[in-house]
Amino acid sequence: MNTNTSIHPSPSPLRFAIVGCGAIAPTQAQALKEIPEYARLTHCSDLNETRATTFAQKYHLTTATWHEVLKSRDIDVITLCTPSGHHGALAAEAMRAGKHVIVEKPMEVSVAACDELLAAIRDSGRKFGVISQHRFDPASQTVRKLLDNEALGRLIAVDIRIPWYRTQEYYDSGDWRGTLAYDGGGCLMNQGVHTIDLMLWLCGAVKEVHARTAIAAHDRIEVEDLACATLTFANGALGSLFASTAAYPGFPARLALHGTKGTVVLEGDELHTVAIQGHAAVSGPSASAHALQVATGGTRNAVSHAEANLGLASTAWKWGDAHRAQFIDFVTAIREDRQPLVDAHAGRAAVALIKAIYASAKSGAAVTLSA
Ligand SMILES: NC(=O)c1ccc[n+]([C@@H]2O[C@H](COP(=O)([O-])OP(=O)(O)OC[C@H]3O[C@@H](n4cnc5c(N)ncnc54)[C@H](O)[C@@H]3O)[C@@H](O)[C@H]2O)c1
Repeated sequence: MNTNTSIHPSPSPLRFAIVGCGAIAPTQAQALKEIPEYARLTHCSDLNETRATTFAQKYHLTTATWHEVLKSRDIDVITLCTPSGHHGALAAEAMRAGKHVIVEKPMEVSVAACDELLAAIRDSGRKFGVISQHRFDPASQTVRKLLDNEALGRLIAVDIRIPWYRTQEYYDSGDWRGTLAYDGGGCLMNQGVHTIDLMLWLCGAVKEVHARTAIAAHDRIEVEDLACATLTFANGALGSLFASTAAYPGFPARLALHGTKGTVVLEGDELHTVAIQGHAAVSGPSASAHALQVATGGTRNAVSHAEANLGLASTAWKWGDAHRAQFIDFVTAIREDRQPLVDAHAGRAAVALIKAIYASAKSGAAVTLSA
């Protein structure tokens, strides 16, 4: 007889359904397949039946209509990969049906829709998360640690650049792309929201914006492909933002934080530069390890521990890994009955900032965000 009481059976994986089998769905399916202790992807659904069937065959899933997904007792979590302007209504319905829900970024395309969804989340008692996978990149986690340890001193300035490129064919590839109703915005609401959420998580709330936007290089779109803004953060720091989907051929997003004691620069998914007073400045691949050393006080033990936790010791971070890390966080949040790292309040904050930028660009005046 086994008398070892310290052995607990591991909890069952939660059963997932993907709704919306378009461009981002394969990344999610692959990520979920890679974490069998946490998740079991069983169903998929799409208004376009051919797309649902092809996707189901590829990932060995059962296809279901939306109502079958809602009614099924074999589905715990619905992950919504539908056009952004559908997230709110579908998520609210799913939570009323007793499902936990995770939606792709952005949470919705208006602050009012985010607020309606917040009410539905409160009423349902279910867990809700917004995919914003770059918070889970080891480089982002390392910068969060540096800030928690006050290694940069007081944050005084932020420089955020998102010089991306999308072809006209990209905008023409789906009837919702580039529309105000379903995309909600362009280079900020669809693409820039990743870096904007990361910036808000690392730097805190923005209290005022002054902005300009333009449709500079695409046809048949209702949304901006160019945006510039100055930002004033609640903590007094100043920020400068440039975003585009017309910056041929496209460059990695870059987020530079300047504090009274140093600077860190994130570029793409990587820590590009760490320069902290009293320490040698480091750029390139060794910047992550150096930053951890600074963040953790420099002992070898602390560094190894942090590296292992962040997954830096394993293989190089690649596309899809961050989705996997975010799904693990979401399932763990359900199991531990806590909020996931990117919850509805975070999702709403990113949408509110982007909408304030649009309002400022339209009026030509500075816009103040409510706390
Ligand atoms: N995290 C990321 O890096 C990332 C990358 C790309 C897209 N996204 C987000 O993912 C979402 C989807 O984007 P995409 O590029 O995959 O779009 P897409 O157009 O390629 O796919 C959307 C799919 O949803 C289906 N659909 C539409 N309404 C539906 C409904 N009511 N019920 C079921 N299916 C429905 C469509 O038929 C289509 O197959 C967007 O919110 C987008 O912002 C996130």
